[in-house]
Amino acid sequence: MTITAPSTRATDRIATAMTVLMCRPTHFTVNYRINPWMDPDCPTDTGRAVTQWEHLRETYRGLGFDVREIAPIAGLPDMVFAANGGLVIDDVAYTANFHFPQRQPEGPAYGAWFASAGLTVHWAQFVNEGEGDFLPIGDVILAGHGFRTDTASHDEAARVFGREVVPLRLVRPEFYHLDTALAVLDRRPGHEHVAYLPGAFSAASLAELRRRFPDAIEVSEADAAVFGLNAVCDGLHVVTAAAATGFHAQLRDHGYTPIGVDLTELLLGGGGAKCCTLELRSVPGKEF
Ligand code: ARG
Repeated sequence: MTITAPSTRATDRIATAMTVLMCRPTHFTVNYRINPWMDPDCPTDTGRAVTQWEHLRETYRGLGFDVREIAPIAGLPDMVFAANGGLVIDDVAYTANFHFPQRQPEGPAYGAWFASAGLTVHWAQFVNEGEGDFLPIGDVILAGHGFRTDTASHDEAARVFGREVVPLRLVRPEFYHLDTALAVLDRRPGHEHVAYLPGAFSAASLAELRRRFPDAIEVSEADAAVFGLNAVCDGLHVVTAAAATGFHAQLRDHGYTPIGVDLTELLLGGGGAKCCTLELRSVPGKEF
């Protein structure tokens, strides 16, 4: 009989409660189309979006997260996707500078929130969509491009944070932000671990991912298509789409605890759990 040991024991995984910024989808709807998921002819239910979002927020609170909220602004239906609001590391915030005009007012709105929270704000000169395309891990920042974020902003972020930025080219329109195609699971230097959809990346970028993360979880098309990779991990718990059941099994095999959430209403806008969540890695007065 052959016994296959899980590649990692659960005891190797360590949960660290996070501080996150969220935006209630009070004004959520789909009245323009800037990604393949959005269909302005398909009705949305804002009340259902709010209920699903509140469940996500309570899930985070149950994990001990400190959840901050930014006030939603009428006329900005995508503002719920807080991950796009910027990139925050320690006490420095690099603002978003959105590709599409429909979302451009969100950049100053999130930037003003960062300033009011006491962060040092660097206003982006180049187009970027915050944590949608910038994912810190270990000592580097993984950075998507191809649909939204301009590579000039990769250089700008490298200067602002003094970190190496690793460009990754996205090639599938339905996985238009890096956080739809790749999830950071363990960010600790020396323990870096990710999950991703191989087909979402150019051949050169896939080779780079395989070189940097040889033990990564490669997910199925089916799990990526329900936005399983649009996930938030505290080091142990992985908050991800309820429907990504194959990914849940892979996560368990690697010692993580998947927590499925239903955000199908927000998926009509092309977003999931991670899209609704901006990580605040440090805010003044709070160490973690
Ligand atoms: N409708 C939004 C857009 O296309 C969805 C953003 C999703 N956010 C994310 N971090 N992937 O911009």
